[in-house]
Amino acid sequence: MVEIATSLLSAKEENIIQKIYDLEVAKTDYFHIDVMDGKFVENDTTERMRKYTEYIKNVSTLPIDVHLMVEDIQSYIDSYLAMGVHSITFQLEACKNETEAIKLIKYIKENGCKVGIAVNANTPIEKVYEYVSHVHKILVMTVEAGKGGQKLIPETLDKIRELNKFIYENNYETDIQADGGINNETAQKVIAVGANILVSGNYIINSDNYKQAIESLKE
Ligand code: DX5
Ligand code: ZN
Repeated sequence: MVEIATSLLSAKEENIIQKIYDLEVAKTDYFHIDVMDGKFVENDTTERMRKYTEYIKNVSTLPIDVHLMVEDIQSYIDSYLAMGVHSITFQLEACKNETEAIKLIKYIKENGCKVGIAVNANTPIEKVYEYVSHVHKILVMTVEAGKGGQKLIPETLDKIRELNKFIYENNYETDIQADGGINNETAQKVIAVGANILVSGNYIINSDNYKQAIESLKE
């Protein structure tokens, strides 16, 4: 069954509480929080995303799906664990080596939080295979990490297809999350190759009816 994680990256701060409330009523499955440190990627969203997470905690019980696009992964894990989020996903490219990646995965799980690993658009999908059995989900970036409103990169569909085959052949239960450029057209494409959690930002936030926009992604 396909789930929708609405990214608040492109949601302006004005009326953000109302937007959070309306997205809950519109039945988004998760709030997707894109934390960017201005080092791993150019944008710095750290302050605004911390505030948005606090707002969500105050007005909604829906799960918060945190996507860290940061260099100092450990310190951001600690601050988001402290805010009681549902899942934390970090970029494989920000890990120095496999030992560090495994250590971070274990740490997040030991703190009662679900864990994911994200691969950027031009990282070969094979790079995550060794982690698939250790995490709850693999986030496949379908755009270059760093900003919202971009177009889905078609080659990333093959990565999702390959990953899905690997998961199926090994009987793993790991979810596949597609993130970037997801709208009513591209949603069908990523679902067809195996994604079961879709992140969508601009398409939902800029729509005039959140509920219809979210439903159109699940069709
Ligand atoms: C990009 C983020 C995505 C992005 C999705 O680095 O990880 O979550 O905000 O936004 P849209 O749906 O507008 O591409
Ligand atoms: Zn994201």
